[in-house]
Amino acid sequence: MDAYQAAKEEIRKAADITELIGQYVQLKKAGRNFLGLCPFHSEKTPSFTVSPAKQMFHCFGCKVGGDIFRFWMEYHKVSFPQAVRDLAEKYHIILPERKLTPAQKQIMDSKEILVKINESAVEYYHHMLLESAKGRAGREYLDRRSISSDVVGRFKIGFASADWDGLTRFFVKKHVDLDKAVQAGLLIAKKNGGYYDRFRGRIIFPIFDLRNRIVGLGGRVLDDTLPKYLNTPETPIFHKGELLYGLQAAYPTIRENGRVVIVEGYTDVLALHKHGFYEAVATLGTALTVDHIRHLKGYTNEAVVVFDSDTAGKGGAIKSLPLFQNEGLSARVMVLPEGDDPDSFTNTRGLDEFLIRLEKAVPLFDFYLDQKVAQIHQGVEGQVDFLKEILPVVSEINSSSHRALYTRRLAEKTGIAEAVVMTELESITSSHSRGQETDRLRMKISESKAKGLDDLHILNLIIHFPHTVGRLMDNDCRRLLSDPLIKEIFDLICETYKQAGRMVPEEVLENTGIDAVRERFREILLLPPYYSTEGVEQAVEEFIEKAHKVKLSESFRKAKDNLEESYQLLLLKRERLGLNRNRNGIFQEEV
Ligand code: CTP
Ligand code: MN
Repeated sequence: MDAYQAAKEEIRKAADITELIGQYVQLKKAGRNFLGLCPFHSEKTPSFTVSPAKQMFHCFGCKVGGDIFRFWMEYHKVSFPQAVRDLAEKYHIILPERKLTPAQKQIMDSKEILVKINESAVEYYHHMLLESAKGRAGREYLDRRSISSDVVGRFKIGFASADWDGLTRFFVKKHVDLDKAVQAGLLIAKKNGGYYDRFRGRIIFPIFDLRNRIVGLGGRVLDDTLPKYLNTPETPIFHKGELLYGLQAAYPTIRENGRVVIVEGYTDVLALHKHGFYEAVATLGTALTVDHIRHLKGYTNEAVVVFDSDTAGKGGAIKSLPLFQNEGLSARVMVLPEGDDPDSFTNTRGLDEFLIRLEKAVPLFDFYLDQKVAQIHQGVEGQVDFLKEILPVVSEINSSSHRALYTRRLAEKTGIAEAVVMTELESITSSHSRGQETDRLRMKISESKAKGLDDLHILNLIIHFPHTVGRLMDNDCRRLLSDPLIKEIFDLICETYKQAGRMVPEEVLENTGIDAVRERFREILLLPPYYSTEGVEQAVEEFIEKAHKVKLSESFRKAKDNLEESYQLLLLKRERLGLNRNRNGIFQEEV
């Protein structure tokens, strides 16, 4: 094992998978495993399983699974080497340099370079704000908005002067690859050659990912010029629909208090932080997406969305209801007085008033209903319009009991007969629930396929009682298997056993290259043993006996086939010799 491999093993030993994943996904103990809502696909009932004994995770819904490194890769969307580096850092393990091919190095580095360039730009902008003469306008602006120096430091806020090439020149001096800086969204290439800065005359808000790396920037003008905000465009490391501003600073508190407060703007997050409230995050000017919610539900199952009064008025909030509902996050709404956002509100009225309102936040659906019911136009037409707006949203909720609950509440609040609401809703749901139906069907089919076969039982036996593998192998129990994936796993296990004289299922899994085989293997690894320790011997004997019987009947069939073949040969020979069969099939000489 080389030093790199050894370090990897050390990380594996230092990190407990349940503890690591538990930092991002709420896990509940279920027998020998832990269960939670899968962070990789949308689900209401937990099928995301973590096994401390096997140091492995697997989602029975979407089939994503593996070890700590795989989790990190999937969760943070990074490459394997990056996952190893991140975890090494997290668990304080010194990682030796790994020899890479130039191609590997290029892929691995391309994203890292963009992060480095962002960080270098922020260093420049932050320095401009704090130290330079040109930064004065920025400092005054932040003072006016009473953004404290503590917050400026913690969020590395910066200032881009009005110059066209301030950052460009800084990068030239620092020997930064300017084309890469274009890729990072910081510079823009001129048509006739040369570069200029994207961010000019703006306060710079760095945007961090969960690993505290700067992946993009938001820049606000100092006056009323439009656009008010300019953000880094989509780059290989900056995806607006997945990131939440402030999450890197907020998530420990969100976890601890079991609540996240979602606000609309960067300055809202900052103002709340300044007042000592660390649970707030903001989207980057986009609507909430399922990716946002999946990130959050790892830390909490309760969200409060804060709207200023005009956003609330527009009713956009309700669109996020199915997102929250389907991801199992309860959502409440808090509204601020007209003209206020959390920034202006806390700065004028203080945090306590904010907290009082926060406590009074109402469930998202009720909030919407109350708002809408007040606006429904009288008469049938008004009610029809209302149902047309709300029912498509309700229909996106996966859980039928929740749909029923919402239907009842809708009927109560509006005075429309429940039966009417229900049939209306059904006509919508039936048209788009087919996908789920297929999934259920697919599961049923694969279950029934698995039933009645020895495949799962044999593998389960070997995995939980590895000492049985030798005998099962020697007695050719492979012939009892029918599922090609299971055969593949069985062969891998036997090969390892033959070569090493021992076999650890988890190690075999690790060396399995084919995805489909790995998925199946993991699933089987996570199932509890079918046999008790006392039952093992009997099970082995039964399988061996069955294998013998199958072998016998197979050789019998073969013998029969051989006989048939020799008979046919004989027939041919006879024919050639001029012999013929009589009516009874007996050969006789031609007469
Ligand atoms: N936003 C954006 N692009 C714009 C306008 C807004 O990306 N042209 C995003 C920003 O993330 C901003 C959020 O939408 O923080 C909310 O916008 P708004 O309420 O207009 O700004 P505030 O955050 O309240 O900023 P300020 O208080 O400085 O006006
Ligand atoms: Mn504001």
